[in-house]
Amino acid sequence: MYFIGVSTAKSSIRQVFALWADILNRPEFELVGIDLPLRADPDLYRNVVEFIKKDPLSRGALITTHKVQLYRACQDLFDNIDPVARALHEVSCLSKEGPLLRATAKDPSTSSLALQSFLPDTYWESHEADLVCLGAGGSALALASHFVGNLSSGRTPRRIIVTNRSAERLKDFRATYESLGSGPELELIHAPNPEVNDEVVSAAPPGSLIVNATGLGKDAPGSPLTKGSQFPQDGYVWEFNYRGNLLFLDQAQAQRAEKRLRIEDGWVYFIHGWTQAISEVLGVTIAPTGPLFDTLTTAARVVR
Ligand SMILES: NC(=O)c1ccc[n+]([C@@H]2O[C@H](COP(=O)([O-])OP(=O)(O)OC[C@H]3O[C@@H](n4cnc5c(N)ncnc54)[C@H](OP(=O)(O)O)[C@@H]3O)[C@@H](O)[C@H]2O)c1
Repeated sequence: MYFIGVSTAKSSIRQVFALWADILNRPEFELVGIDLPLRADPDLYRNVVEFIKKDPLSRGALITTHKVQLYRACQDLFDNIDPVARALHEVSCLSKEGPLLRATAKDPSTSSLALQSFLPDTYWESHEADLVCLGAGGSALALASHFVGNLSSGRTPRRIIVTNRSAERLKDFRATYESLGSGPELELIHAPNPEVNDEVVSAAPPGSLIVNATGLGKDAPGSPLTKGSQFPQDGYVWEFNYRGNLLFLDQAQAQRAEKRLRIEDGWVYFIHGWTQAISEVLGVTIAPTGPLFDTLTTAARVVR
């Protein structure tokens, strides 16, 4: 199995995978990292995908960072594209059935599993609260897509507010979000500097969920907020990453008691993302709850 990213050697999965292979009684499973530069040449993506497709010992891959670019460059190489990948125009998992290569997008389901581990959908029925997502990238879209089609149940945030540093990404976000079906009202805000994010976060109603989906704190230093930002009373704060110098989490921790914040990092998201991909690529069943999932989670703690 391959891990296609930018600096894959730094990821905890490199250590965790071997532990999990033993637990799954498949010590022959091996994870190999493939590092590609950001926004790599389409031919580079095609070389990697063609190799995986043709090589009988290659079972598939988990893809981070390059999900959209790789999908664009390699669409014609996929024999089977799942409807979610098609709708979101991205691929996060490649798997094989005989010679046939399948492309799937796992983030909508794995981010939902992670969200539900600390905030059940029923929460929204009793709270007039918003989802505020800082960053309009692929993972923000995956999270927002979880609420599309759920409007009549009342189990959605009142509004979804998404900010982004560049304006162009917001246009794409709206187009894809609206193409998925009817979801909560979407408000998009261009935030070229952190002060705009501060304003959006401090205006969110009590109980709102504030998400850092910018990658700031891991992919680049800093936080999307300034040190003067104010989180909503009784809010939930979710940082998508679990490693790095996560300043956004520190900012939330500083207000935890006063604002009665519930704070979550990206650890559970990481576990769901990898277990679901391994399940699909290597053909082992790993349910998202239950004893096997708990054992794998416990084993992974050595790198936490
Ligand atoms: N725990 C897990 O398993 C897990 C799973 C998925 C994702 N993640 C993490 O989540 C992060 C986001 O992932 P992604 O795939 O969505 O990344 P992405 O596609 O690169 O999106 C990040 C977005 O944030 C925007 N941004 C950057 N700084 C900003 C700021 N100060 N204010 C507002 N917007 C800002 C960027 O805007 P521009 O258009 O200006 O660049 C970009 O659109 C990554 O760090 C990733 O590692 C973790």
